[in-house]
Amino acid sequence: MRIDIISVLPELITSPFEASILKRAKLKGIAEVHLHNLKDYGLGKHNQVDDYQFGGGAGMVLMCEPLSAIIDSLKAERAYDEIIYLTPDGLTFNQKIANSLSLKGNLMMICGHYKGIDQRIRDKYVSMEISIGDFVLSGGELAAAVVADAVIRLLPGVLNDETSALTDSFQDGLLAPPVYTRPADFKGEKVPDILLSGNFPKIEEWRHEKALQRTQERRPDLLDN
Ligand code: ADE
Repeated sequence: MRIDIISVLPELITSPFEASILKRAKLKGIAEVHLHNLKDYGLGKHNQVDDYQFGGGAGMVLMCEPLSAIIDSLKAERAYDEIIYLTPDGLTFNQKIANSLSLKGNLMMICGHYKGIDQRIRDKYVSMEISIGDFVLSGGELAAAVVADAVIRLLPGVLNDETSALTDSFQDGLLAPPVYTRPADFKGEKVPDILLSGNFPKIEEWRHEKALQRTQERRPDLLDN
C-alpha cells in the first residue's frame, strides 16, 4: 500500500510513521507513506497556499491552484483508489471503514487547515470525506495519521501475531475483553482463575462473555447492529 498525504504542515506527522508498527510496515515494504508539502506548489514568490474566503468571514481557505497542481502531479504518477479529504463534516471513521481502506492499493489524503479547502477541489477530486470524531482539530494532519495507522496495522504481515488485529475491539462488533499479564497476584488482586486454567475453549468462552458484557455496559449501540 502507498499513502500520499498532502499538508501545509507535514512536519506535524513525521514521527508517527517513524516508530513502532508503522515503521515496521515500511521496513518490510508493506506500506509506504509519503508526506508532501503543499507550499512547494504555492503561488508567487511567497508560495501562497491560502486566501480569504469569498463572502467575508474569519479564517483562510486553501486555494484551488496549489491543491490541483499537487493532486494532478500525483495522479500523473499512479492511479489512486481513493482521494480522501479529512474534515469534521465527513463520514465518521470506524473499524469498518479502516477494514475497507486496508484492501486498497494507493490512497491520497488531503489535510485541510484554517477554514478548510476550496469546495471546488472537494467537488472535482475528492472521492471520500472522513471525520475522526465530532470535534474540531487545528488541521487534518492528526486525523490523517490516525486513519493511516488504523489502516496500515491491518495489512497482512504488519502485526507480528496475525491474529491480534482480529481480536481488537470492534473487529467482531464488540469491545475487547479485559487482559492480564504477570504477576498472577498483584498486591492481593488476582487474575481470574479461568485464564490460568489452560482450558482454551473455556477461556475463549469467558472472553466472549466479558466482551459482550463490556459492550453492553459501555457501548450498547454496537449491539443494536
Ligand atoms: N480536521 C479538523 N477536525 C477534524 C476531524 N474531527 N476529523 C478529520 N479532520 C479534521
